[in-house]
Amino acid sequence: MPGPESTITATAAGTFTLGDLTVTRMGFGSMRLTVSRDVERALTVLRRAAELGVNHVDTAAFYVSPGGILEGDPGPPRYATELIREALAPYDDLVITTKVGPGIREDGTFYQASTADDLRRQVEENLRRLGVDRLDVVNLRIIKKAGKDSVAERFEALARMREEGLVRHLGLSNVRLDHLVEAQRIAPVVCVQNSYALDNQQDAPLLRACGQRGIAFVPFFAIAGSGREKGPVSSHAPGLSQVARAHGVTEQQVRLAWTLHQGRHVLAIPGTGNPDHLDENIAAAAIRLSQEELAILT
Ligand SMILES: NC(=O)c1ccc[n+]([C@@H]2O[C@H](COP(=O)([O-])OP(=O)(O)OC[C@H]3O[C@@H](n4cnc5c(N)ncnc54)[C@H](OP(=O)(O)O)[C@@H]3O)[C@@H](O)[C@H]2O)c1
Repeated sequence: MPGPESTITATAAGTFTLGDLTVTRMGFGSMRLTVSRDVERALTVLRRAAELGVNHVDTAAFYVSPGGILEGDPGPPRYATELIREALAPYDDLVITTKVGPGIREDGTFYQASTADDLRRQVEENLRRLGVDRLDVVNLRIIKKAGKDSVAERFEALARMREEGLVRHLGLSNVRLDHLVEAQRIAPVVCVQNSYALDNQQDAPLLRACGQRGIAFVPFFAIAGSGREKGPVSSHAPGLSQVARAHGVTEQQVRLAWTLHQGRHVLAIPGTGNPDHLDENIAAAAIRLSQEELAILT
């Protein structure tokens, strides 16, 4: 396995089709780009991802640096969507997946879209910030509630925007199987984006259900795992360091390789603001784990 300085590209893990859009299974998540105020570094990471063959970028209009919004950072807010536009427009064959549901107000406070009008405003904000007439993929990102909660009304609102041509394909995020079943009765679903990692496999049945339905399963926190927003935790899985050593790679790369071995329909969207980490993550597209290694890890 060559090191991070190699020119392994994202295509090493193959492709999958979201509706009529073919994406590299190794993609990129843009949430970490706004952690730092270093705009040039963020643009470098995005351009490098595209150079290395990534054509699937995950984002959201609420991925925004605190600048100008939260106390203590005087600069203007930096939106991941606008960084993507600056670095990569006019996009060529890039597929951008965004999400609606959570939103951020002018004063920096978060809210959850509860009406069709809220969702339309969020779709329009994504269109404006990305500088496009139609969004490739929009995930309805929900906050799960215990018991019976429905996505129908919100998904119907997005389905109408799809019919109007504002959105090409729809997906879901942070959902259960019953939400997926409900949404599929309303409109086609091309992807489900839930947290999933070596140390967080609760959604294994949902991952399998997506595969059976030809839907992409797109884990977030694949590297961070149970560290979630805080980032990677130290080695948890017995054998993770052993497998990493055997391949001459990092544990984070093994986590990504493991993700890509969970099914052809499973896509990776690792997030980083660090160009070196980006190279390592994309190089993980070429790591092949044996059945024995998968057994050790799982
Ligand atoms: N639908 C949802 O609710 C939801 C929620 C969260 C995230 N997402 C999406 O999923 C994407 C992935 O999630 P994520 O970015 O939070 O987590 P992640 O990809 O699992 O891990 C990112 C964390 O790991 C670090 N990291 C990345 N590559 C590394 C490497 N090679 N070596 C060491 N550390 C590395 C990053 O720090 P550095 O920046 O320092 O590399 C960051 O702290 C996001 O970017 C976002 O697009 C969706």
